[in-house]
Amino acid sequence: MEQTIGFIGFGNMAQAMAAGWLKTGAVPARQMVACAKSREKLCRTTGALGITPCHNAEEVVTRADVVILAVKPYQLQEVTAPILEQLKGKTILSVAVGYPFDKLETLLPGLMHWSLMPNTPVAVGQGVILGEVKHSLSEEAHQSAKELLGAIAMVEEVETDKFGIAGTITGCGPAFVSQFIEALGDAAVLHGLPRATAYRLAGQMVAGTGRLLVESGQHPAAMKDAVCSPGGTTIVGVAALERGGLRAAVIDAIDAIQKK
Ligand SMILES: NC(=O)c1ccc[n+]([C@@H]2O[C@H](COP(=O)([O-])OP(=O)(O)OC[C@H]3O[C@@H](n4cnc5c(N)ncnc54)[C@H](OP(=O)(O)O)[C@@H]3O)[C@@H](O)[C@H]2O)c1
Repeated sequence: MEQTIGFIGFGNMAQAMAAGWLKTGAVPARQMVACAKSREKLCRTTGALGITPCHNAEEVVTRADVVILAVKPYQLQEVTAPILEQLKGKTILSVAVGYPFDKLETLLPGLMHWSLMPNTPVAVGQGVILGEVKHSLSEEAHQSAKELLGAIAMVEEVETDKFGIAGTITGCGPAFVSQFIEALGDAAVLHGLPRATAYRLAGQMVAGTGRLLVESGQHPAAMKDAVCSPGGTTIVGVAALERGGLRAAVIDAIDAIQKK
């Protein structure tokens, strides 16, 4: 891909996306530029990845074909207002939470923008990026953006009213899965396995199980049944998790987030 990617804001999410493009080889470092508030910090973070630091957002937009808005949501207005003219004709991808198309359109009227929700596994090319169905990219820019994002994630287009719940599953999910892995680690340590080994095994087990589900299209219950032999050991654990309320705890967690 020959296009230059410009990050406005180079914090956790921007760095995760950049790392993903570097790791997958989809975008070389020389085709990425970034700006942030603190020049010193920016030079450190871009330097670690070999990406070009810019002095300000205007320089980023001048050099980039695709502009990624990766500042905190409350900073979007102050960052975009001075560069509206330069943003004309650019593909603008916003990762700011809580800025669906209609709200972003008030800040970027008439410009080509697409609201996204990436999750942190983009850093290893295994993310999920939700894209709002409603956007103002040209057909060509939309296809090109999907290809670019597809290098680091599964890209799923979601209607505006489902964006919140889908984002809760994919964006908050890594925290819940990490809690589960940590709990498996505690149990493993209780039974004598070194903690680092336990985390490595549990992490790969979760990654592989997820991949199997996505690639095979199997129902999760069928995947569970496939590991539970009659009178065997796994079903003993499944029954204990049900007694412990795993399913209800997960549903309650998602429900609590949606009500927040
Ligand atoms: N983290 C996640 O898991 C996640 C997931 C989905 C979506 N998002 C969205 O991603 C966006 C960024 O989140 P984050 O977690 O990456 O935040 P972050 O780590 O705090 O990064 C924010 C970046 O914006 C820069 N910035 C602040 N003011 C600026 C200005 N006036 N001009 C240019 N850059 C400026 C900051 O620079 P300094 O560090 O120098 O202040 C920093 O590089 C947010 O809108 C968030 O909603 C995050």
